Formats: sequence, structure tokens, C-alpha cells
Amino acid sequence: MKRIEGWFVTQVYHAALGQGWQALNKELLAECHQVADADGDGRRWSRRNYPGGYTSYGSIDKVHRLSSTFMELERRLGRHVAAFAKCMDWDLGGRRLGMTDCWINIMPKGVAHGLHLHPNSVVSGTYYVRTPAGCPGLKFEDPRLSRLMAAPPRLADARPIHRAHVTYPARAGHVTLFESWLRHEVAANPLGSERISISFNYDWA
Ligand code: NI
Repeated sequence: MKRIEGWFVTQVYHAALGQGWQALNKELLAECHQVADADGDGRRWSRRNYPGGYTSYGSIDKVHRLSSTFMELERRLGRHVAAFAKCMDWDLGGRRLGMTDCWINIMPKGVAHGLHLHPNSVVSGTYYVRTPAGCPGLKFEDPRLSRLMAAPPRLADARPIHRAHVTYPARAGHVTLFESWLRHEVAANPLGSERISISFNYDWA
């Protein structure tokens, strides 16, 4: 009898934030623009590090402490992070996963976010505020790619679990969570309409 089984699974969590996300997103959208308008340091940082777009990553990386709107988002995301931790079978030893960083990303036409990971964190993720139809999703890379020294390429129609990349659609009102070591990127926004997301890191404290 022959048995081939899959092990060492990489988990990605994707869910709707929950009821009332439309009203929350309306407030988040307005506040994201307010922060961007007021954040000269961040716009300068973005010119060097996020050409054509705006991110508060280099200037205001704790927007979850900025206003009751962002605090409400943090509160609601916490439930999803707890659900993710549960499905990972993590033993947190009485400690909890807490949000350490949270920042805004505004991607107008042509702006991309290259391949990266989030060092010094446990769980990272993105919540979508504004996602015009056709905007790019979040593309993850198989974390074993760098170890596949002589592996043959995979068939174009390989089963999803064998593909080297997977792209999760960006959908307003949805949250995507992943382990912080998993590399990911966002392709250039081809639309003349802004894609707006809020990204965050959780640490185990
Ligand atoms: Ni990221």
C-alpha cells in the first residue's frame, strides 16, 4: 500500500471582518486620508520607500492608538487573530498576541509593494478599506522555494497545494492573516483608483 501525505502546512487566514464593516470602512477611509494629508514626514518617507504611494509605516506605525476608529478596528481584528492562533494549535502559555504596529497603505496607479516579510513579529496581516474592482491581491510565495535546489518546475495546472505562489484577492471588509515569516508582495495597481489597506503586526507578549 502506498501512502503520500502532506506535512508542514503553511496556513493563511482569510475572513470577512464581520457585521457593520461598511460603516467602519467609511470612517477608516476618511481617517486614512486625514492622516496622509497631515503626515509630511510620512509623505517624504514614502517618496523614497514607496514611490508614488503613501504609507505611514516610516512615520506613524501605531495608528491603532490614533483614534477610536482605528481602536475599533484593532478590537475587531483581535478576534480574528485569536481564531488564527487557535487553528494553529499555538500554546501561548497564558500570554497573548498583541498588536505592535499598524499602518496605512495608499496605492494609486502604478504603485507596487515588492516581496518582503515582517521580521520580529508572529502574525501579520492586512485589512482592506478600499479595493476598486481589478486591484491587485496579496501574493504569497512558497517559503521552501529557496531550498528547492534542483526541484523540477511544477506543471502549469498543478494542484493548488503544489503551486509556488498563491494570490488572495483584496476585498474591502476582509482581513488576511499569515505568519510573519511568509514572504508576500502586491503587484502594481493598474487602475486609476486608489487601493487602500491597513497592515499590522502582532507579537507574543
Ligand atoms: Ni507586508
